[in-house]
Amino acid sequence: MKINVLTLFPEMIENIAKESILGKAIENGHIIINAVNIREFSNNKHNRVDDYTYGGGAGMLMMAEPVYECYKTVAGSGSRCIYVTPQGHPFSQKMAMDFAKEEEITILCGHYEGIDERVLEEIVTDYVSIGDYVLTGGELAAMVITDAVARLVPEVLGNDDSAEIESFHRNLLEYPQYTRPEVWHDKAVPDELLSGNPKIINPWRLEKSIERTKERRPDLYEKYLVDTKAIDWLKSFKREFIFALEPLRRGEAEIIHFEDGKILVLKDLNENKVYEVCTESKKPDGIDAKLIKNCTIYSTDEKFKDEGNAFVQYVYTEKLMKKPEKETSKKAFLQREKMNQALEKEETFFVLVNDNDEEEKLFQEQMGLYPSRRLVYIK
Ligand code: ADE
Repeated sequence: MKINVLTLFPEMIENIAKESILGKAIENGHIIINAVNIREFSNNKHNRVDDYTYGGGAGMLMMAEPVYECYKTVAGSGSRCIYVTPQGHPFSQKMAMDFAKEEEITILCGHYEGIDERVLEEIVTDYVSIGDYVLTGGELAAMVITDAVARLVPEVLGNDDSAEIESFHRNLLEYPQYTRPEVWHDKAVPDELLSGNPKIINPWRLEKSIERTKERRPDLYEKYLVDTKAIDWLKSFKREFIFALEPLRRGEAEIIHFEDGKILVLKDLNENKVYEVCTESKKPDGIDAKLIKNCTIYSTDEKFKDEGNAFVQYVYTEKLMKKPEKETSKKAFLQREKMNQALEKEETFFVLVNDNDEEEKLFQEQMGLYPSRRLVYIK
C-alpha cells in the first residue's frame, strides 16, 4: 500500500516513519510512505505557498494552486484524498479499516489558517479529524492515520492475527495484561492467567474487558449490551439469519439498529456497504421492516410515498444505480434517472418501496440483489 502525505514539513513525516514497526514495514516493502513538500509546487519565485485571506482575519491561508499541482503530480488516479482538519469526521478504527483496503491513499496536511476552500472542493474525498482539539498543523494527524492504517496492511504486524482478533471484540476495551515477574510491589499476577488453561483464561479476560469498558467507556458498554442482545436474538433464528451472523462473527459487519424483533445489520463488502434487515416476519412479501427513521421514500406507488420511516423492501442510499446493458423499459429508465438525481442531491437515506413483482425483479437485476432478501445499499 502507498500512502502519500502532502505537507510543508516532509521531515516530520519521514522522521516518524523511519522508526519502529512503520520503519520495518517500509524496509520490507509492505508499505510506501511518500512525504512530498507542497512548497516544491509553488509557482512563486520566493516559493511562497500562503497568502492573506479575503475578507480579512488573522493569519495566512495556503493557496489553491500549489496544493492542486502537488496532488495532481503525486496522487495516482482514483487515490482517495484525505484532508486532516478539526472540522472532519472523527477518525475511528472502522475508518482505518476502510482506508486500509485501498491500494493508495493521499493525506493532505494544512498549515497556517488552513487551505483555500476551492482546491479542497476539487480534490478532497474525506475530511477527517483525529479529535476535538486544534493542532498547529496536520502532520501529527496524518501520522496517526498512517500508523493506524499501516498496521492493518497484511504482514505489517508480522502476525495478522493481532489485528484480526480485535475486530472480534469490538465495543470492548482490552483486558489487563501482565508479564514477568510473577509478583511485583506485592502485586501478584492473577491466578487465572497462571493456570495455562484457555477455558479459565478466556472467560477471565472477557469478564475483565467488560468490567473495564463499563467503568472507562460507558458509551461503548451500552453498545456492547445492545449488540449482545441483538446477536442472541439473531442466533435464535440461526438458519434464517446466517447471512448476517457470519459477517458479524468475522468482524465484517455491525449492528446499527436494534429494537424488539427488528435488526439492521451493516455489512462491509469489498465495494459496497450492504444493509441487511432482519425482522420477525420472515415472509418475503410482508412490508414489515419499519426500521429506518428520517429517510425519504421514493416509490412508483403513491400509497408508499412518505417521509420519515422506511417501509423497506429495497433501500438504496448514495449509490447510484448502474445503467443496465440493455434498457428494459422506459419506466425503469425514468425511475432510475429520478433516483439517481435524488441520490446526487441528498445525503439522506433513500428508500424505494415497490410492491410490483416485475419491477422488483428488474431492480434486483440492476442492483444484483438476491430476490428473497430485503437489502439496503449504501456506497
Ligand atoms: N489539524 C489541526 N488539528 C487537527 C485535528 N484535531 N485533527 C486533524 N487535523 C488537524
